[in-house]
Amino acid sequence: MINIGLVGAGYMGEVHKSAIDRISNARIIAVADVVEEKGKKMAEDINAKYYNNIEGMLKNDDIDAVYICTPTNTHVDLVKKAADSKKNIFCEKPLALSIEEADEMLKSIKANKVKAMVGHVLRFWPEYLKAKEIVDSGMIGKPRSVFCERVVVIPKWSDWFAKEEIVKGAGLDLQIHDLDYLIFLLGKPNSVFSQGVYAPDLGGWSHMNTVISFKDKVKGLVDAGWIVKGKFPFTMVLRIICEEGSIDWIFRAGENLEEISKKSPITLYKSDGSIEVLKVGTEDPYFLETGYFIDCLENNKDIKNATFEDGRESLELALSSIESAKTDKIIQFK
Ligand SMILES: NC(=O)c1ccc[n+]([C@@H]2O[C@H](COP(=O)([O-])OP(=O)(O)OC[C@H]3O[C@@H](n4cnc5c(N)ncnc54)[C@H](O)[C@@H]3O)[C@@H](O)[C@H]2O)c1
Repeated sequence: MINIGLVGAGYMGEVHKSAIDRISNARIIAVADVVEEKGKKMAEDINAKYYNNIEGMLKNDDIDAVYICTPTNTHVDLVKKAADSKKNIFCEKPLALSIEEADEMLKSIKANKVKAMVGHVLRFWPEYLKAKEIVDSGMIGKPRSVFCERVVVIPKWSDWFAKEEIVKGAGLDLQIHDLDYLIFLLGKPNSVFSQGVYAPDLGGWSHMNTVISFKDKVKGLVDAGWIVKGKFPFTMVLRIICEEGSIDWIFRAGENLEEISKKSPITLYKSDGSIEVLKVGTEDPYFLETGYFIDCLENNKDIKNATFEDGRESLELALSSIESAKTDKIIQFK
């Protein structure tokens, strides 16, 4: 049984609580939140102990792993404290706000020899995985261009999303999902060029149009942001164009992913003219993500997917994309 201490009883805290609830060999035994009302409510709901800060919670020797579900600017401090207390760590994405912070976190988890994973959930999302499986199989040839869209109204449940010093805008917070997936699919990027919309009232770089160049001149294109208003639905698109066919998925998930279980077809168009609606699993990606983390802890396996190194790499790409938008320059990677 893996005993969990959850830090941050907000939106993602609830998402992870629901996923952990469904895992028989894991349970949340402690909840920490600086807002007593929120933390106590979640703790009472699941019969866990409430703490008003992580320091108190970390004194609990029964805790094996800590879930960090707090605003991004708090991640570095909380991760280092959890690692120093020899707790395994699941940290929500983006890992941090800067490469320096990410490096401090990596140093800390290595020095303390704890297992650590970052919440890059597209690596566990059935449609994104199916698309990767087809590309990796080579059945439709090599990829040439991959388009990812993620357009959503700025989260309304917490006001910090609109604060640049806490989140660095959608250019980091939202776009990083697709940047991370592109790295997962295509490997290390060679260069990035972005144009963006800078909206100080929405946390800075708030809508990005990004072009990334990968090995063999394969292009990744990302259209991601939260400047849309009103009832614009959470929209995700994945279109992978390969030499001998294309994969296409267009998904609208309600206002804030509440219709995540609603399915829309992911379709394979082959060069021979055939059209195939692909079969994908229906499981909640956050459940699959947490299942992987718990399995690695329970069976003492190395975490090989969505590692902190992966989180650092996608953070570097997102920050470079913002830098490119600011300077109007292509950023090359070594
Ligand atoms: N993977 C995803 O799909 C996804 C979706 C949304 C948000 N996120 C990420 O998850 C993280 C949390 O976002 P959220 O939407 O859950 O935020 P939220 O505002 O809903 O919840 C954050 C909670 O953390 C608490 N908190 C703040 N500082 C704290 C501290 N130092 N110690 C203890 N508790 C503290 C707050 O009181 C709040 O209850 C962010 O990094 C965000 O980018 C990921």
